[in-house]
Amino acid sequence: MTRYDLALIGFGGVNRALAELIVERGHDLTAELGFGLRVVAITDLRAGTLVRLDGIDLAPLLAAAELNFSGMAGGSPEPRNEWVIRDVPADIIAEATFTNPADGEPAVSHVRWALESGKHVCTTNKGPAALHGRALRELATRNGVRFEFEGAVMSGTPVLRTARRMFGGLTVSRVEGVMNGTSNYILGRLEKGMDLAAAVAEAQALGYAEADPTADVEGYDVQLKLMILANEVFGASLTRADIRCVGISGITGQDVRDAAGKGLRWKLVGSAARRPDGTVEAWVAPVALPDGHPLAGVSGLMNAVAFHTDLLGTVAVSGPGAGRTETAYALLSDIISIHERCGAKAAAMEGASRV
Ligand code: HSE
Repeated sequence: MTRYDLALIGFGGVNRALAELIVERGHDLTAELGFGLRVVAITDLRAGTLVRLDGIDLAPLLAAAELNFSGMAGGSPEPRNEWVIRDVPADIIAEATFTNPADGEPAVSHVRWALESGKHVCTTNKGPAALHGRALRELATRNGVRFEFEGAVMSGTPVLRTARRMFGGLTVSRVEGVMNGTSNYILGRLEKGMDLAAAVAEAQALGYAEADPTADVEGYDVQLKLMILANEVFGASLTRADIRCVGISGITGQDVRDAAGKGLRWKLVGSAARRPDGTVEAWVAPVALPDGHPLAGVSGLMNAVAFHTDLLGTVAVSGPGAGRTETAYALLSDIISIHERCGAKAAAMEGASRV
């Protein structure tokens, strides 16, 4: 049976939730998917580094109120990210550090070190895929490994994989989405009479907002997600400078309530469309959508993306866009994809060569 050794970079909500899935569902997943998962290394800004090549016992770590790896066998107080990524013999690096919208670091380096070392990467971080997606994908190809990032857009809801794998033979002319749960939640609270600051605080308390909620409120989070999505759908190489970006800070509760009275819903929309000359036009802005629009009914923390296609008309994918378990599921789906693309093929070839 195939088994993948994982190194978890960042042990906040998302990688912890992945560890929980491995502890709680490991056996079922093995039975269903045909491979096992073992965590051999964890690094974390606060807890330090823990390496156990015979497999880390995850349950006590998940039960601990506060983690400090330095007193444990195989533990040290500093997060030794580069050493773990490059030198610890793991098969897959699960990268779940914070997104830095300016230059994507340190996640971009994490991904690069892993791919250079011949390790597969799955990441929920938007920075590497949005800002250096093409170069990192080429690096992965040169090294015979996979760079997967489903969780960067709409958490575990498989919007990128749908775009990549399910639309063969269709022409997509435009893609538009509500891709930020925090701003959508805030707009919903404004509609109910709450003010912006209180609504932001509530979204932060729920754990959906970015470390700095400016990215949610001012649209930069959607801008990164739209770069990833448009590059996937149109093979474009959009940069942040290519995407005009307006957030929701200029929308008042009165605007939202007035619109609702007229059957309109304000949504922070990210849109990308192919121009007749083949280039891609993309923008992020609040739009008052009429009730019948496929994105108008996306409420609260839900996200949705509508693909406008030639043969099917509009196809929409909707589901959760954030949340620790939902995002951890994205990592699991990336690991399944790595297995399907690489592991299962290698196992079949090995079996065939033995025959
Ligand atoms: N802050 C993001 C959101 C989290 O609210 O959608 C997921 O990228």
